[in-house]
Amino acid sequence: MKKTNMYLAGIGLLFLSACAGTNDNSFRVDRSLEYCHHQVTRTLAELRGEEGQIDYTLIPRNILKGEAHWNCRKASETEWCSGFWPGILWYDYEATGDVQIRTEAEKFTAALGFLAKQPAYDHDLGFLLFCSYGNGYRLTGNPEYKQVLLNAADTLATLFRPRAGTLLSWPRNVKMFGGYNTIMDNMMNLELLLWAAKNGGNPYLADIAVSHADRTMEHQFRPDYTCYHVAVYDSISGEFLRGVTHQGYADSSTWARGQAWAIYGYTLMYRETKDARYLNFVQKVADAYLERLPEDKIPYWDFDAPDIPNAPRDASAAAVTTSALLELSSFLPDETGTKYKQAAIEMLTSLSSEKYQSRASKPSFLLHSTGHWPAGSEIDASIIYADYYYIEALVRLRKMENK
Ligand code: GLY
Repeated sequence: MKKTNMYLAGIGLLFLSACAGTNDNSFRVDRSLEYCHHQVTRTLAELRGEEGQIDYTLIPRNILKGEAHWNCRKASETEWCSGFWPGILWYDYEATGDVQIRTEAEKFTAALGFLAKQPAYDHDLGFLLFCSYGNGYRLTGNPEYKQVLLNAADTLATLFRPRAGTLLSWPRNVKMFGGYNTIMDNMMNLELLLWAAKNGGNPYLADIAVSHADRTMEHQFRPDYTCYHVAVYDSISGEFLRGVTHQGYADSSTWARGQAWAIYGYTLMYRETKDARYLNFVQKVADAYLERLPEDKIPYWDFDAPDIPNAPRDASAAAVTTSALLELSSFLPDETGTKYKQAAIEMLTSLSSEKYQSRASKPSFLLHSTGHWPAGSEIDASIIYADYYYIEALVRLRKMENK
C-alpha cells in the first residue's frame, strides 16, 4: 500500500514537472520545489535503510551513470562535498516548513562541527560549513552555529598568503603546480569571510576577501573574460606566474564550472561590498558564459571540449550559474536585470525538464553533471552540489516572485 501511494505520488509529480515551462511560457517554481521535497524524502528513506537508522556522518555525494542509489562518503575535511546535503535539507525546510526535515538538517549539520576545531585542510572549509551551518544560522539564529562559523572563518583565513594576496586553495598541491595555487572555486568561500567580518569577526577577514577577489580579477581572466581554473603564484615573492587548468580540458580552455564559480563569486562580492567594480566585472564574465551556451542552456562540461556536441554536459555549472544570475539580476536596473533573470529562468526550465531531472529513476534532483573529467570521475552523473544550487535557485526565485 505504501509503495503504491509512493508510485502514484511519483506519477503525479512526473506530470506536474512535465508541465514546467510549457504552454504559458512561465516557470512553475512551486512545482519544482515540490519535486525536490519528494526527492529529499526518498533520499532520507534510502539513508534510513531497512534498519531505520541514519548514520549522520555518511553524506550523499553522487549517483553515477547507470546507478540508482546514492554513494555516500564519510564527512571529513578531505570530502569537500559534505556540506551540500545538510544545505539541501535547510533549503527544503525553508521551502516547506517541514519540522522533520529541519530535525534531519540539524543532525547532518552537527556531524560537521568538528571541522571548525582543526587546522584548515584547504579552502573547501567554506563550502563545508557555510552551506550547512551558514544556512542553519540564517534560518534559526542558533548562537552555536554562529560560533562555529566565526571559528571556521578564522581557520580559513590562515590560508591567506599576503605576498600573493590570495588564499592558497590547495596546500597539498603546491609542489604539483610549482607554486601557490588559487583556484576559481575559492571565490565561493570568500562568502564565509565576508559574513564573519560583519557578524562579530575580525574586520581583517573582509580585507583578505577583497584582496583575494581583486588579485583573482587581475590575473585569472583572459581578455575575453573567460577564466583559468588555477592561478599559480611564486611561493616566495607572490608574483603571478601562470594560469593553468586542473579540471578543465586544457590550460587555454574554459571549464564550465570554473566560469560558473566566477559568476557566483563576483556576484556575492558585489552583494557584500557594494563595490561597483565587481558588478561591472561580473556582467562581462556572465556574458562570456551566456554567449557560449548550447541551445538548451546547459553547458558542455568544458566550453572547448573537442567532442562537442557529443561531450558530456555539466548540469551543476548550470545550477550554480542560475542561482547567481537570479541574484545578479536583482542588483541591476530593469533592462539589464531582465536579461539575466530571463536567462536564469530558461536554465531552470531546462534543468526542470525530463532530460535533466532524475524523477523516478533516482532520488537525486538532477542528472548529467560532470565532476572531474580529466580524472575520469563523476562523468554524466547526479552530483550533490548540482542539487544544492538547483534548490537554492528555486528558493531564490520563489522569494523574488513573492516580493
Ligand atoms: N570545487 C571542486 C569542483 O568544482 O569540482
